[in-house]
Amino acid sequence: MPAVVLVGAQWGDEGKGKATDLLGSRVHYVVKFNGGNNAGHTVVIEQPDGSREKYALHLLPSGILTPTCTPVIGNGVVVDLEVLFREIDGLNARGVDTSKLVVSANAHIITPYNRTLDKVTERFLGARKIGTTGRGIGPTYADKMSRTGIRVQDLFDRHILEQKVEAALRFKNQVLAKIYNRRAIGAAEVVEELLGYAERLRPMVRDTSLVLQEALDRGETVLLEAGQATLLDVDFGTYPFVTSSNATAGGACTGSGIPPTRVQRVIAILKAYTTRVGEGPFPTELFDDNGEFLRKVGTEYGTTTGRPRRCGWMDTVIGRYATRINGVTDFVITKLDVLTGLDTVPVCVAYEVDGVRFDEMPVNQSDFHHAKPIYEDLPGWWEDISGCRTFAELPANAQAYVLRVEELIGARVSAIGVGPSREAIIVRHDLLGEGA
Ligand code: GDP
Ligand code: IMO
Ligand code: MG
Repeated sequence: MPAVVLVGAQWGDEGKGKATDLLGSRVHYVVKFNGGNNAGHTVVIEQPDGSREKYALHLLPSGILTPTCTPVIGNGVVVDLEVLFREIDGLNARGVDTSKLVVSANAHIITPYNRTLDKVTERFLGARKIGTTGRGIGPTYADKMSRTGIRVQDLFDRHILEQKVEAALRFKNQVLAKIYNRRAIGAAEVVEELLGYAERLRPMVRDTSLVLQEALDRGETVLLEAGQATLLDVDFGTYPFVTSSNATAGGACTGSGIPPTRVQRVIAILKAYTTRVGEGPFPTELFDDNGEFLRKVGTEYGTTTGRPRRCGWMDTVIGRYATRINGVTDFVITKLDVLTGLDTVPVCVAYEVDGVRFDEMPVNQSDFHHAKPIYEDLPGWWEDISGCRTFAELPANAQAYVLRVEELIGARVSAIGVGPSREAIIVRHDLLGEGA
């Protein structure tokens, strides 16, 4: 099988890390193609003795936990070098081999001044803030587009690096000092900090587009794993309350150098309910006991920032949108187990905006801000489903929930998560099998 893309269908934290990890042993390469250490993927691996090992990954692709798989940081990623090596060291200390990691020479570097700018800009915005993760993601992508960014390959040419950092700081120091009242940052200290990582990084750096093309030519399988999700995509998300990269399927090509003609499957991860971290519209958000129930039972607290996640019911308008924007061939519904114990499980099927029904995402952002969910109430179930491994073992109402969601989102549900660990999954259709 050629390239397979894996994306989030909602506002992130759908369980992409677990899904990637699940496929890891059957793929040769796992590529992170967008975002940086704003992502937070929790992967839980059951050990032979029954205990559970929990890993929280931010910058490294989730495939790093599978020894047979080569993890790749693609050109579309923004890399914080301090975080990269801290994460590598943390995994090595736990016995995970990271020696296969490959990093694109064209990936951009999150510089110390961009971390600072992310934080001070948010503070400056006050009530109008985005609620970013404060990791410097937005300013680094802005530099990339403004053609003032620093790339991984620049670390191997001191002269070029000095020129670029000086040029960037000439402008940014004015902004830091005159607008934000912060101290100016010295170019030399930034250059020295970055160069301090160069020799350790050097052996990992490759032309990753070429590496991946050659793998595909050999008939190997490449999994392209998104950070963030469809509604956080800078083009197709709830702008400006988005991240600064393309987290949708199109970004998999530009962020990796793999052409669209080689992508055979697009797998989207859809949580059985909806969560969001940070600011921005969220039509099915719950402010009552049900929201608290989802947060508590689903342990909905950010992997990266620890912030409580906003919680709400399943929104199939968003699901349909994700199908369309990404060309989804297969959905994985995660966390179905969290919905156990509810009398009824509402599913949003459409919106109402000022008396008008919307079956598709309103193109106008103001309409989306005012969208009121139209719910269909489905009957709940009380049985513990975490041990179910086939669809037939699920209670009838849980089956009906999945089938109704499948109908509403317009693409097949190929797998269903029923617990955090690797094993807790029901597979209806092989995610890497031939044909959708
Ligand atoms: P990601 O950013 O999309 O990789 O998702 P996160 O790791 O941030 O959040 C998903 C959380 O749900 C993690 O804590 C996972 O361990 C957990 N999880 C994934 N799938 C399931 C599932 O089917 N059931 C339950 N209960 N937890 C799950
Ligand atoms: P994973 O990969 C959930 C959100 C932030 C903020 C907005 C912009 O774990 O699904 P940024 O720091 O990217 O400029 O913040 O995007 N955000 C995420 N929310 N999961 C993520 O990643 C996120 N990455 C960014 O909370 O609202
Ligand atoms: Mg996450």
